[in-house]
Amino acid sequence: MAKSSANLDIQFYDYHPEQSDFYSEVVVGLQATPKVIPPKFFYDEVGSQLFEQICQLPEYYPTRTEQQILASNAGEIANIIGTHSYILEPGCGSCEKIKNLIDTLRPKAYVPMDISKDFLQKSAQAISDEYPWLDVHAACVDFTAPMQLPFCPDNEHKLAFFPGSSIGNFEPKHAKQFLRQVADMVGKGGGMLIGVDLKKEEQLLRDAYNDDAGVTAEFNLNLLTRINDELDANFDLEHFDHHAFYNADIGRIEMHLVSQKSQKIKVGDQLIDFTEGESIHTENSYKYTIKEFQQLASNAGFIPVDVWTDEQELFSVHYFEVPNG
Ligand code: AVI
Repeated sequence: MAKSSANLDIQFYDYHPEQSDFYSEVVVGLQATPKVIPPKFFYDEVGSQLFEQICQLPEYYPTRTEQQILASNAGEIANIIGTHSYILEPGCGSCEKIKNLIDTLRPKAYVPMDISKDFLQKSAQAISDEYPWLDVHAACVDFTAPMQLPFCPDNEHKLAFFPGSSIGNFEPKHAKQFLRQVADMVGKGGGMLIGVDLKKEEQLLRDAYNDDAGVTAEFNLNLLTRINDELDANFDLEHFDHHAFYNADIGRIEMHLVSQKSQKIKVGDQLIDFTEGESIHTENSYKYTIKEFQQLASNAGFIPVDVWTDEQELFSVHYFEVPNG
């Protein structure tokens, strides 16, 4: 791990996380049955912009509902968590969501964590500029891998913040592993504030991933554009359809790209066969009841302390702690 603070008001810790091998993961995924590409590859520059647009869509309720829950319960959340914590945010992205919490929780330090080094450096610096009184320790890490955070003193109260229901994109088994790592990271007496999308009427869920403006379809299909551009492939986007549906048996939205016809696609030096109607599974977004999620977090070493929802019970924000004893 290299520490640097040159020309920055922030402390920057580079753990040199292993970057994914886009080509081999795509080829292995397309040669598998059924075909699959992990959702982490959605987020190139265009994909990240499309995701920002999704968050503003009328049908996509999670982002605004979570913000509304956090805003309307800010006082109570601050009373329970207290001030002067070290706030750790795995996968912080643009560090936008943390701002209200910084205002209400007045933390001692903020630890944004992300795999994308340049973006992290910029976002962390912007936070430091906006909150000059705040200690910012940015950590370039793969937050799904176990890690030590030497700049978080043992005796400080630590709070992990994981908003946006990103936990829903993990398979439940991996969600449990990740939550266990978070529990280790915040240590005994530490806490976690986490946004989790709830199970609900199926039509609302389907609409959220099949918006009228077609932005989610564009987001899904952008994966093929990215593969064409970066991996010398020849997907014709006219011959693939966005397909998103709720799988009620498993409790998740599934996103797929479905081939409209039988076709052969070149990816680098590989040829991939598609039959008519064959799909590439691109994302799962698990939905939980409050009880189901509390059980999952309890299995990972947390105890449920409080949970807040909106009036329609579309979304939940949970606060958990790691027991002291
Ligand atoms: C990032 N993640 C929580 C989003 C979700 O709802 O699962 C990604 C997304 N996919 C399509 N729309 C939004």
